[in-house]
Amino acid sequence: MVKPDTLGMPMKRLTRLEKLLFRLEAQHACLGWAFGEIAASPGIVCELGLGHGRTYDFLRENLPGRDIYVFDREIDCFEDCVPPADRMFLGEIAETLDEAAGRLGGQAVLVHSDMGSYDADRNAAMTALLGRKLPDLLAPGAILLSDLPLRVPSLTALPLPAGARGDSYHLFRKQG
Ligand SMILES: C[S@@+](CC[C@H](N)C(=O)[O-])C[C@H]1O[C@@H](n2cnc3c(N)ncnc32)[C@H](O)[C@@H]1O
Repeated sequence: MVKPDTLGMPMKRLTRLEKLLFRLEAQHACLGWAFGEIAASPGIVCELGLGHGRTYDFLRENLPGRDIYVFDREIDCFEDCVPPADRMFLGEIAETLDEAAGRLGGQAVLVHSDMGSYDADRNAAMTALLGRKLPDLLAPGAILLSDLPLRVPSLTALPLPAGARGDSYHLFRKQG
């Protein structure tokens, strides 16, 4: 259905191709913005969702010298994107986030969460789980980027940087 936008102009439905394009554009723009934001802050970086390793590769390329911890239930990425074993939390995110909070709680200056899927019910459950567990990892002033629209009362939602369209990504800062 074609709905009017706020100016009364017909607004075209986004196709799946456009949604993917906007998500990748937004990831790139938000991560690039976040690199500048954390440049002067010590701390670790967490990547939730190794997937094929695309955003992990971007993180490690742009943040040399940072300890980057990666979370996934499996390793199914490009061969050259496998994280070092001592930086990988392999298993169900509900369990590995608890383990990480015990070892690294309050130390993450940047968390990129890319845990969405095509299943709306799964996304709702994941959104709730991440909202409960992620804040324990974050250092004061930390940046959290998420593909899912997390609702975390202790975090401030931030506007997206230039280059990220609509609500294709979600940015938060923990009060410092
Ligand atoms: C969208 S992909 C990540 C894409 C990746 N950031 C990239 O750029 O290639 C989401 C990943 O989350 C992982 N995942 C989904 N649910 C999970 C869970 N409950 N526990 C651990 N990992 C999970 C999947 O295995 C998948 O690799």
